[in-house]
Amino acid sequence: MQPTLPGIHIVATGHYAPEKVITNDDLSHIVDTSDEWIKKRTGIERRHFSEGEKNLDLAVHAARQAIEQSGIDINELGACIVATFSPDYFVPSVACLLQRELGLPEEMPSFDMNAACSGFLYALHTARGILLQSEKRYALVVGSEIISKVLDMEDRGTCILFGDGAGAAVIELAEGKQYVSYLGARGDDTSIVCPNADGVRHIVHMDGSSVFRFAVGTVPVCVNKILEKAGVDKDEIDYYVCHQANKRIIESVAAKLEQPIEKFYMNMQEYGNTSAASVPIALSEMNQAGLFKPGMKVLCVGFGAGLTWAGALIEW
Ligand code: COA
Repeated sequence: MQPTLPGIHIVATGHYAPEKVITNDDLSHIVDTSDEWIKKRTGIERRHFSEGEKNLDLAVHAARQAIEQSGIDINELGACIVATFSPDYFVPSVACLLQRELGLPEEMPSFDMNAACSGFLYALHTARGILLQSEKRYALVVGSEIISKVLDMEDRGTCILFGDGAGAAVIELAEGKQYVSYLGARGDDTSIVCPNADGVRHIVHMDGSSVFRFAVGTVPVCVNKILEKAGVDKDEIDYYVCHQANKRIIESVAAKLEQPIEKFYMNMQEYGNTSAASVPIALSEMNQAGLFKPGMKVLCVGFGAGLTWAGALIEW
């Protein structure tokens, strides 16, 4: 029998969103929409938009909080990964700039990864893989997005959905902690696209109903695959932390899994969809609110452009 590899312990978390709040009513002065429509179809009430802050600034706030809360010596870090699809530059990566800003050690890999809204869970998986091959036990994993910069503020189908923010976690390799993941991708350049070709403004285009169908179909599959791999019953899960794209998607997932909606954390009302930042912001808020107790089982799921999906069962 294969020896069980160490899982992941989330040692500390942090999150940050820019100060400027854009309400649904604010958007109703820009596009033909209403607070009622947005709330009913998505659950979103507000989102935060950067005013001059870069992706890096958001990442620094969230990461600093997580590192301070962890109490670790930064020289014990073995990786710095930032999940994002909205970096400040193609190069250098947000992660390298974050490393400089926080004075993190040079002897570790620092890089960005883009798996869109599944990004944080892809990064968590990658960080564990790096730590398993390293002498270090800790990694800094961040999801940071500045989506307001790539929104078409004339397209009511997309501009109402997204917001800016960052979430971070300091993770530790931990023997005896269960970690089970399931990641996937399907090449698709029609459902959600943000082009970067010469002469094309970088704006998000989306076929909302196709993404909706993809999400309500994929998330329960992801959850069931993980439960099966882990040998855990769905009732044993203390919290489901889904990507915060749409309240109706989460309600549909809860109904399909026949799980009480109270187990599904939701904060899209405050942030909108912050892509790779959405799951770590939720984890950080929950942690701050004292919702997690040692040994609790937390099942996180992300889905998004790519198309990509990712889930992870984490033992707190
Ligand atoms: N305000 C008012 N009306 C709007 C609107 C808005 N912001 N956006 C779209 N509409 C209109 C449409 O034009 C359409 O009008 P019509 O019937 O006259 O043509 C009508 O509302 C229905 O549009 P539809 O796209 O079918 O609505 P929907 O119920 O699918 O909701 C989304 C749209 C975008 C909220 C929904 O599809 C969704 O949340 N999809 C998933 C998106 C997502 O999560 N993306 C990120 C994944 S990482």
